[in-house]
Amino acid sequence: MSSGGVLQEAPLTRILHAVGPGYRSEHPRPIERTAFGRQWFGCNFLAIGLANRLVYGLYESLLEDRMNIVAIMASYRKGRTIDTLVDQAIAGALTANPDATAEKISLVDKQIEYCRNCKACRNDDPSKPLAHCAIQDDMQAIYPVLDAADAYIIGTPISMGNETALLKAFFERSCFVLGKPRKSWFSEAPIPRNPRKRQAVAILSTGVVPPWLRLFSDDATPLIKGFCNNVLNARLIDSLYAGAIEKRTVDYYTNAAYRLGRELIT
Ligand SMILES: Cc1cc2nc3c(=O)[nH]c(=O)nc-3n(C[C@H](O)[C@H](O)[C@H](O)COP(=O)(O)O)c2cc1C
Repeated sequence: MSSGGVLQEAPLTRILHAVGPGYRSEHPRPIERTAFGRQWFGCNFLAIGLANRLVYGLYESLLEDRMNIVAIMASYRKGRTIDTLVDQAIAGALTANPDATAEKISLVDKQIEYCRNCKACRNDDPSKPLAHCAIQDDMQAIYPVLDAADAYIIGTPISMGNETALLKAFFERSCFVLGKPRKSWFSEAPIPRNPRKRQAVAILSTGVVPPWLRLFSDDATPLIKGFCNNVLNARLIDSLYAGAIEKRTVDYYTNAAYRLGRELIT
């Protein structure tokens, strides 16, 4: 008998027979053995498969949409001013967005050699998302982390009016790996390889210089701002100058660092 015949004969009865376990009819043939039944179950499996794919796809895209924060901790001392304030900023950001993820990179723990000006990165293909760096050290693992980030927290003590040597070495090593040469006669500054726009905040601390003297003793913030713009494709939205911590102590600035982290997310 054709499937059309089965359908004409008693379609509802057969469906109820398949769906309702308590149902009794004069047609004992199980529905999955009929042509209609095969279609019915086939459609069900197809629908379940599609639904599964949809739910999994949504879950995957949610994971991809998670904001990914990378914090660069450039103090020589762990557990002290900058380390503490960077942790506070991360806590503020994660409170504002509990789905976000954060990774802190303490530069002092990493083996980061000085840039050798070999120009391997600068001469590399500008269409590559990350240029080749000839030095095989911990920066090789840091480059992709920086590239994948959605937001940055950069923390450094002020050392002789500037960022620490750790941060400067890190900047020099990243400059033409995440950035590419600008084709312009009036600027040698790189432009970001990654077209995705990001945001950043900076935290700086001084031993004795109070915040109101920042204007005359902070060459680090303009450098950080330039690095964010030209290399990370990130806008420096705000910064905290934790001045005179020898007098004020770190606790004086913890709330401000927490708020800065929240600001990065919102
Ligand atoms: C070599 C060196 C240079 C420093 N230069 C300055 C400075 O120019 N102005 C200032 O107020 N503090 C200066 N300091 C003090 C540091 O800024 C201060 O100890 C730091 O912000 C503390 O951060 P940390 O606890 O994360 O190490 C200097 C410290 C060192 C070791």
